[in-house]
Formats: sequence, C-alpha cells, structure tokens
Amino acid sequence: MIAERNSMASSNGATKPKRVAKVKIVSTIRDMQTVIERWRSNRKKIGFVPTMGALHEGHLSLIREARKTCDRVVVSVFVNPMQFGPQEDLEAYPHDLKKDTRLATSEKVDVLFVPTVDAMYPEGFATQVKGGAQYTQTMCGESRPDHFDGVTTVVAKLLGITRPHKAFFGQKDFQQALIVQRMVVDLNLGCEVEVLPTVRESDGLAKSSRNSYLSEEERRAAPALYQALKLAEGMLQVGERNPQDMLNAVTKRLRTESLIEIEYVTAKNANTLEDVNILAGRVLVAIAVQLGKARLIDNIVVDVPSGS
Ligand code: PAF
Repeated sequence: MIAERNSMASSNGATKPKRVAKVKIVSTIRDMQTVIERWRSNRKKIGFVPTMGALHEGHLSLIREARKTCDRVVVSVFVNPMQFGPQEDLEAYPHDLKKDTRLATSEKVDVLFVPTVDAMYPEGFATQVKGGAQYTQTMCGESRPDHFDGVTTVVAKLLGITRPHKAFFGQKDFQQALIVQRMVVDLNLGCEVEVLPTVRESDGLAKSSRNSYLSEEERRAAPALYQALKLAEGMLQVGERNPQDMLNAVTKRLRTESLIEIEYVTAKNANTLEDVNILAGRVLVAIAVQLGKARLIDNIVVDVPSGS
C-alpha cells in the first residue's frame, strides 16, 4: 500500500509528518481477483461501487454506505465504451483520476479498480448480457437502444471480478438500477443490489458528472427538472390520478425554460416500467432532456395508496 504525507502536531508542539494510507489502485483483473480471493477467504464482507469516475457527492454517498455496511470497499473507475452510442460523449466524458484517488482516499476506500479498455474487452471478446426489452427499450432506451446492454455487460463483468456481497447504485439512474437488479436475480449473481436516493445541489439539480458540460445560463435553467418533478409529486399528493394531466403539467413547467429540449416525460409502474392508465401504486415519474451539450435525467418515485 502506498502512503502519503500529512502533518500532525507532536507533543512538543512541532509539526510531525503523519502517514495517511492512500487508496490502493489496482489496474489488472488478475490483481483485483487476487485481492478479492484473499478477502473472501478471510470472510470479509465486500461492498462494490461501480463508477465511470469524475466522482461527485452522489458517488460519495454510495461509498459511505458501502463503508458503513461492509468490511472492504472496492470502487471501479471505468468509462465503458460499450454503453456509449456512436454520436455520444465517450471522448468528452469527464475524467480526473487524481481527484478520484484523493476522494477515494478520504472516504477510506480499500481499492480503486481502474482496468483498461483492452483488459475489459480483449481481442475476441464476443459476449453480451442483454436485459429484457420491456426494461431496456423504453424511456432512455428509446433514444439509446444499445445503452443498457452495454451497462449490463460491463456490470456483469465487474460483479464477476469483484464478487461483492453488496453493490451500490444511485436512484438518479433509476432505469439502470432496476435493470441491474433484474439481471442479478435472473442470473443468480448472488449479490445484494442497494439503490440509494439521488443526491442534489441546493437548488434541486441532481448531481451528475455531466453537469460539468452546462454553461452558466444552462445551469440556471437546470433546476427546472426537479421543480417539474416536485410539481408532479404535489399533484399526486392532492389526488391527481390521470397520468396525461399530470404529464401535461410537468411538460408545461419544463417548457418555461427555452434552453431545455424535452426528450421524454413519463409516468410508469416503478416495479415493471409499464405504462400506467391510472396513477396508483408505486409510480415513477421520469424526465430526460437535452440542455446544451448535457443530456440530463431525473426522476421521483411516489407511493400512491390505491383507492385514494
Ligand atoms: O452509472 C454509471 O456510472 C455506469 O453506467 C456504470 C454502472 C458504472 C456502468 O458503466
């Protein structure tokens, strides 16, 4: 393990260097597997947080939960080319491994797993894990038809390498989290998937690595997504049960910001992603928009008592 220097006051008042363990960075699959085998044979409970790097408070909330509930924490940093479409932002995707390393160190992550694209997809790689179309071809899957197959393939590989007891995902990517939960059950991958609440800026904007693409003017328009979702929540709370009426109000709110181009505004059954004729049960209200160069998504889940 590598150590870095920090200072600490000694008994005679002089500052004395204190060694703070820096997070261990593992870049080969073999080395990662060796660490996991050792932890498993010592009966350690392993928590895993998959990321594409550019860590922010949303990721940190997942890491903190992993730290609290598991003995060992692995965070992966891998910008997965398989989940980006040809016209998407793979090349521009923000990365800052130095900052990620600093944050992982301060959150006491045990291992930052940073594999290369060639290691993850070596020559001859030919297998894909595909979720059911009812989950992957709706909502974000309509404009990104191959995206979730890229996600399930890489997450299945990462779970196979890190063999965690628990894996942590954020609710901001609700559809992704549901698809991963389904995959873990369907393929008996034997880990628990925990989905944690979206972390927001003080004005409600969901934290996302892609927020860094926003200009000042776009950033000012961005809280409209959460405001529109809060409007939907309010309507549900006062008894609105007609999905179209609610979605019209959400759309109208978003349209007050001329920079926002709406991709979709939808209400679904939060367990199945099926359309709903009446707003009852566990309702997902989800939005995707384009705001300048940033594609932003957000959602809320509201439990609507049936018969109310
Ligand atoms: O949510 C993400 O950052 C990615 O989709 C994930 C889960 C790390 C897979 O590449």
